[in-house]
Amino acid sequence: MGVWWWKLLFAILAGIISSSELCASQNDPKYRFTQNATSAAEISYYDYIIIGGGTAGCPLAATLSEKYSVLVLERGGSPYGNPNITNLTSFGAALSDTSPTSPAQRFISQDGVINSRARVLGGGTCLNAGFYTRTSPQYVREAGWDGRLVNESYLWVEKVVAFEPDVQQWQSGVRDGLLEIGVLPNNGFTYDHIYGTKVGGTIFDHHGDRHSAADLLQYANPTSITVLLHATVHRIMFRTKGVSRPRAHGVVFRDASGRKHKAYLKHGSKNEIIVSAGALGSPQLLMLSGIGPADHLRAHNIRITLDQPWVGQGMSDNPMNAIFVPSPVPVEVSLIQVVGITNFGSYIEAAGGENFAGGSTTDYGMLSPKIGQLSTVPPKQRTQEALSKAIESMESVDKTAFRGGFILEKVIGPISTGHLELKTRDPNENPLVTFNYFQDPQDLERCVKGLSIVEKVIESKAFSQFKYPNMPISVLRNLTASAPVNLLPKHTNSSLSLEQFCKDTVMTIWHYHGGCHVGKVVDRDYKVIGVDALRVIDGSTFNYSPGTNPQATVMMLGRYMGVKILNERLVASAAESLDDRTSIQENKY
Ligand SMILES: Cc1cc2nc3c(=O)[nH]c(=O)nc-3n(C[C@H](O)[C@H](O)[C@H](O)COP(=O)(O)OP(=O)(O)OC[C@H]3O[C@@H](n4cnc5c(N)ncnc54)[C@H](O)[C@@H]3O)c2cc1C
Ligand SMILES: *[C@@H]1O[C@H](CO)[C@@H](O)[C@H](O)[C@H]1NC(C)=O
Ligand SMILES: *[C@@H]1O[C@H](CO)[C@@H](O)[C@H](O)[C@H]1NC(C)=O
Ligand SMILES: *[C@@H]1O[C@H](CO)[C@@H](O)[C@H](O)[C@H]1NC(C)=O
Ligand SMILES: *[C@@H]1O[C@H](CO)[C@@H](O)[C@H](O)[C@H]1NC(C)=O
Ligand SMILES: *[C@@H]1O[C@H](CO)[C@@H](O)[C@H](O)[C@H]1NC(C)=O
Ligand SMILES: *[C@@H]1O[C@H](CO)[C@@H](O)[C@H](O)[C@H]1NC(C)=O
Repeated sequence: MGVWWWKLLFAILAGIISSSELCASQNDPKYRFTQNATSAAEISYYDYIIIGGGTAGCPLAATLSEKYSVLVLERGGSPYGNPNITNLTSFGAALSDTSPTSPAQRFISQDGVINSRARVLGGGTCLNAGFYTRTSPQYVREAGWDGRLVNESYLWVEKVVAFEPDVQQWQSGVRDGLLEIGVLPNNGFTYDHIYGTKVGGTIFDHHGDRHSAADLLQYANPTSITVLLHATVHRIMFRTKGVSRPRAHGVVFRDASGRKHKAYLKHGSKNEIIVSAGALGSPQLLMLSGIGPADHLRAHNIRITLDQPWVGQGMSDNPMNAIFVPSPVPVEVSLIQVVGITNFGSYIEAAGGENFAGGSTTDYGMLSPKIGQLSTVPPKQRTQEALSKAIESMESVDKTAFRGGFILEKVIGPISTGHLELKTRDPNENPLVTFNYFQDPQDLERCVKGLSIVEKVIESKAFSQFKYPNMPISVLRNLTASAPVNLLPKHTNSSLSLEQFCKDTVMTIWHYHGGCHVGKVVDRDYKVIGVDALRVIDGSTFNYSPGTNPQATVMMLGRYMGVKILNERLVASAAESLDDRTSIQENKY
């Protein structure tokens, strides 16, 4: 056979490969199994339907697809190919985009703090600051989780999305400052949650590219998973006839053109619908499906499936307060890399670089008003007008004013809780949520103690090169609360107490959680109490935020519960086949 034959074969193969790649790229640059919901069937059937392709939903779906057919319904689009999401240095670009198609949906809690929730495949891991760290063994014990499976699940996640950061001068200064003032020991680089100071992991790789929970879908069985994008679930359907209690059996969702679709569970007593729509989305969707406080549902004309007063209760957001420290020398761009884990319930972290302070017009810092962070006016005064004004004055200030970084303090827990209510019956609209920051005096005390650690770090020898020598703490505090972004004299009281500083400058670190607590709305297996074939698996089930930052544990939980569900079914089907055999034998005799 001549060479031409091989050349021809090669050409044909190359043609096939490139044309199939072309097909795939019409849907998603990364996965063939994602498609626009507009092209979905009007009615379809699966073993598992997962609502929300977020931080918990993606690892959960990938795992269940090993053995079963899985449908993921995600209201947002794909993160791939969008530099606002994938690029570390554009952190905040998505958060500052308030259009209806933005991957970030802004919301303002009733407390007045501006916040954001994900609307994209990969969920919060596509918007977040990337810091990756496990929770403590004590948290694992209290959650009643199996420690070995927890560790295996963390490893499964870390293999794909976690990296060691490149720690440079400014972050090293923060770390050494923490060590100098006694946040000890030095735990080096570790994912583990231990008292002292450490460098944690990050989901940004060494090129500054983000690896979100959507990357965990590479573990999925591509022949048994379907991911629909721009698919907003409106409600879960329940069967009530011929069953002892309501049984979830399908969902109604709409595509981007508003067309209605239905997906049902295939027959099989073990098949389930799993809600992973996040701390705002999950309680909201349960309510829209008739599971919630009866009076509240009635007020919105929602047919009651189950009167469940706990749905939407126990909403919490960890308060974050920060001090901005202008630097006489340039500061590298960094999101969170170092954390001080104190033994009094306060975590110290930092983000540095001009653009993260909000100084660049193209970039959007972690504490910039462009993304809704407005520490310069008390929460209730953070109106759109105040925000626009802050952005305007920020843009008029000399850029060198933003050289430096923020050292922040986050309160553990928190103990203070609030609640969530529907505003309307439209799932696209944010529900009303109240977090009651600092309602519990312990939260306030931890904030004050945390801030005094921050101040000590700023005054440490190790950090001294990143601080102007003639700028005492009182001026820095004032700077954070009053300037440079908002030059109005808000805090003329020069002896502004730390308590007042905590309340006036409170921001979110976006670790909000709750609304479907374990023991209240779901049982320890995350099954919704009082109905069948329905679970909630995501951050809405947490009483307290896990670790110093939650994403590692949310992803872990998705994997963990996926494995548990697969194992349970394996055991159940083994028992069934054993039963079958015994009954056959019994029939013989
Ligand atoms: C800006 C920011 C910075 C953060 N920084 C860090 C950090 O550095 N480190 C860290 O550990 N954590 C960080 N976090 C927190 C962490 O990312 C979140 O706690 C976590 O991602 C929440 O996961 P979840 O699965 O509970 O919800 P999500 O990841 O939000 O998943 C919910 C998904 O459900 C979808 N959904 C909701 N309703 C519907 C519906 N009706 N139909 C279809 N789909 C629906 C949403 O679009 C979303 O994709 C940060 C968060 C943010 C926003
Ligand atoms: C999917 O639908 C959305 C919303 O209509 C649209 O913006 C997007 O371009 C569509 N993507 C593809 C690949 O068709
Ligand atoms: C990420 O952003 C930086 C700074 O804006 C830019 O130099 C770089 O090219 C971007 N990378 C990608 C892949 O877009
Ligand atoms: C990126 O963010 C900017 C600023 O928020 C926004 O204007 C732009 O449309 C976004 N681009 C994409 C692809 O989402
Ligand atoms: C899980 O790993 C942590 C360290 O990350 C360790 O402290 C703990 O003992 C491990 N648990 C089990 C059950 O192996
Ligand atoms: C704080 O700022 C205000 C307004 O700029 C100013 O009047 C006040 O004197 C400052 N206090 C301190 C301690 O710097
Ligand atoms: C200034 O703050 C201190 C400490 O919080 C407080 O005791 C004092 O009453 C305040 N003064 C004014 C004028 O508000």
